[in-house]
Amino acid sequence: MGLFTKKSITQLLADASESEKTLKRTLTAGSLVALGIGAIIGAGLFVRTASAAAQNAGPSVTIGFIVAAIGCALAGLCYAELSSSIPISGSAYTYTYATMGELLAWIIGWDLVLEYAVGAATVGIAWSEYLNNLLVNVFNASPIPYEWCHSPFETSAGSVQGIMNLPALFIVTLLSLLLIKGTQESAFVNGIIVITKVAIVILIIIFGWSFINPANHTPYIPEPSIFTDSEGIHHNFGGIMGILGAAGTVFFAFIGFDAVSTAAQETKNPKTAMPIGILGSLAICTVLYILFAHVLTGLAPVDFFRTNGKEASVVAAIHSFMPGYAWLGKLVTVAILAGFSSVILVMLLGQSRVFYSMSKDGLLPKIFSDLHPKFKTPYKANLIILVLVALFAAFVPGDIVGDMTSIGTLFAFILVCAAVIVLRKTEPNLPREFRAPWVPFLPILGIIVCSAMIFGLHWTNWLRLIGWLAIGFVIYFGYSRKHSKLGNQGITVDPVDPPAPKL
Ligand code: ALA
Repeated sequence: MGLFTKKSITQLLADASESEKTLKRTLTAGSLVALGIGAIIGAGLFVRTASAAAQNAGPSVTIGFIVAAIGCALAGLCYAELSSSIPISGSAYTYTYATMGELLAWIIGWDLVLEYAVGAATVGIAWSEYLNNLLVNVFNASPIPYEWCHSPFETSAGSVQGIMNLPALFIVTLLSLLLIKGTQESAFVNGIIVITKVAIVILIIIFGWSFINPANHTPYIPEPSIFTDSEGIHHNFGGIMGILGAAGTVFFAFIGFDAVSTAAQETKNPKTAMPIGILGSLAICTVLYILFAHVLTGLAPVDFFRTNGKEASVVAAIHSFMPGYAWLGKLVTVAILAGFSSVILVMLLGQSRVFYSMSKDGLLPKIFSDLHPKFKTPYKANLIILVLVALFAAFVPGDIVGDMTSIGTLFAFILVCAAVIVLRKTEPNLPREFRAPWVPFLPILGIIVCSAMIFGLHWTNWLRLIGWLAIGFVIYFGYSRKHSKLGNQGITVDPVDPPAPKL
C-alpha cells in the first residue's frame, strides 16, 4: 500500500454510521457556537491583547486582530465546507485522509496534538497563574508556594526552583473526568462558562468605553520603531510590521474555532450545524475582540502595558484607570479562570476525537477508540491524553508550549485549505451543504496568510515543529503503517463511491 492511499468518502461515512459504536448525537448548532466560543475566548484575549499592544502595535492591535481574523476566516470557510461534506470526528485529520492520503493524514493528526493537547497544557499553565491572582487579589489569601505552581525549569527571582505545577495538573484532571462523563454534560457546563465570560467581555467594553482617553489612541498606528523587551528581544513596533507582529501574537486568541469540527459525529444535523458553529463562533469573537482591544488600549498608555500587570494586565488597567470598578477587576479574574477552563475542555475534547478517528483507522492502537459502555465517550483515550497533557502542564514552562500551539495550528490550517482544493477536483459531485466561495482563490489566499503568520513566528518554533514531526514519522513507520486498516485491505486506489449512507 502506498503512503498516499486515500480513504474513500463513502468508507468514511460508512465507518461513522456503524450503529453500535458511534458516539451519541447530542449537539445542536447553538451548542456548537457555544463550544466554539468556549474554545476561543481565553488566554489570547485576556493576556495577549495587552502584550501585542505593548510590543507590537499599540492601539492598532485592533487591526492586528482583523488581520488574524481574516486568516482564520479563510481557513474557517474551508473547515466549514469540509465538515459539512465529511461530518465525521477527526477534523483536519479526517479531511486529509480523504483527500491527500495516509501519510499526510498521519502528519496532520500528529500535528494536531500540538494544537489540542499542548494547547490544553498551555492554557492549564495560564490557569494556574490566574489561580494565584484569585487567591491574592480576590480572597486576600496567600499564594500557592512558587515551587508547587511552576515547572522544574523555572526559578523565581528569589532563587526558588519550581518542582511541579500542581494547579495546572488539577484543572486538566478535573476537566478530563468531566469529558469522560459525557459530551452533553460537558457542553452544558461549557454553556454556563461561555455565558459568564462573554458577559464579562461585554461589561468591560460597556463600562470601559467612557474611560477611553483619546490621547492613548493618538496616533492610532504608531510610527515604526524597535522595542526591546525585558529579556532583550527586539520587536518591530508600529507601522505595518507592528500590525503583522500583533496579528501573529493575537492569532492564539482565535485558536479553537476549528475544534468545533472535531465534534461532527456528535452533532445533530451536522451538515448545516457545522458551518453555523464554526463561522458563527468566529464572527462573534472577532467583533468582541476588536471592541475589547479598542477599549483596553484606550484605558491606558502603551507604556503601562510594558511595565504593569504582565499576565494580569487587563485587571491592572481596570484597577488603575477605572476608578470605582475594582469589583469588575475581581469579576474578570473569576471569568478568566472560567474562560480558561472552557478552552481546556474543548481542546481536550478535540484531542480525544482526533485520536478516536486515528485509532478507528488503525493508525493508533484500538484502546483510543474504545467507548465507555454507558457514557459512550472514548474514555480510555481521555485518560491517556490526560497523562500526556498533565506531563506538559506540570513539568514544562508555559512560554515553550505556547508558540508550539500556534505553529501547529497554522500548519493544520494550511492543509485544510489545500484539502478543499483537492476534494473539489477528486470528488466534484460530493454533496456539500456548505460551499466555500471563490475556490481555489480563497483557499490559496488562506494558505498564503497562514504561511505568512508561520514565517512571522521565530525560527526556533519552525525547528520545534520539524522535531515534533520527526517523532511522528518514527511512530508512523514503526507502528501505524503496519496496522493501518486501509493499508491491510489491499486497496490501492479509491473505489468508485456508492451512494453515501444516511447518517
Ligand atoms: N483561543 C484560546 C485562548 O485564547 C486558545 O486561550
